[in-house]
Amino acid sequence: MAGGSAAERVGRAPETREFLFKVLVVGELGVGKSSVVQRYVYQLFSEDYRATIGVDFALKEIAWDLHTRVRLQFWDVAGQERFGNMTHVFYKEAAGAFVVFDMSDNDTFREVLKWKSDLDSKAQLPDGSPIPVVLLANKCDQKNHSSQSPAQLDHFCRENGFVTWFETSAKDNINIEEAAHFLVGTILANRSICTREEQEDVIRLHQDAPPAKGKSQCC
Ligand code: GTP
Ligand code: MG
Repeated sequence: MAGGSAAERVGRAPETREFLFKVLVVGELGVGKSSVVQRYVYQLFSEDYRATIGVDFALKEIAWDLHTRVRLQFWDVAGQERFGNMTHVFYKEAAGAFVVFDMSDNDTFREVLKWKSDLDSKAQLPDGSPIPVVLLANKCDQKNHSSQSPAQLDHFCRENGFVTWFETSAKDNINIEEAAHFLVGTILANRSICTREEQEDVIRLHQDAPPAKGKSQCC
């Protein structure tokens, strides 16, 4: 059998890091969640509305930088699931989320906080903190925009624990890449903080531990 690590066998630099992040996409019925995912992953858009049943999946692989590959596993949750009892299953081990509303339909904005509190109560990072959530004001290509001004949305995000918001259009491909890039950057930053804390814990453990007397005491 050939030797070497998996990274070496596929011809990559051995120091390449690979991550798989589960990303939730939630929001009211018909706001464009599936369209955002389809646009980002497959560069496709359709005017037809086919409601998602339960949850749909899509995978996108990105070269974040020379040493980091990221695979995003999207869980595109049907709008009608807010009334079901499965979201706690769907949300397990998520690394981040988009909450989507339709800029041309204020009712969908009013429901955003229900989705956010559903996420906060059922999805946490390993250290117990809430997962990063980006708010997407979708369908910005439409004329009849929401009454929310950018300043109000900034304030809304600060008040309600969203990391930020983007005006998006799955139809015209506006800000979809940017929003995904922002979310991945936040997830990676959270990870490196966790990793640093884990490393500090290890150092603390080493400092606190009594000096090992012999090999038999090492684990
Ligand atoms: P559920 O699966 O039922 O929860 O809906 P969804 O949020 O996944 O919505 P979906 O992506 O299926 O889109 C609903 C309708 O909105 C479709 O007819 C899309 O073509 C349309 N749509 C989605 N995004 C946009 C957009 O950015 N602009 C415009 N004009 N229409 C959009
Ligand atoms: Mg859908």
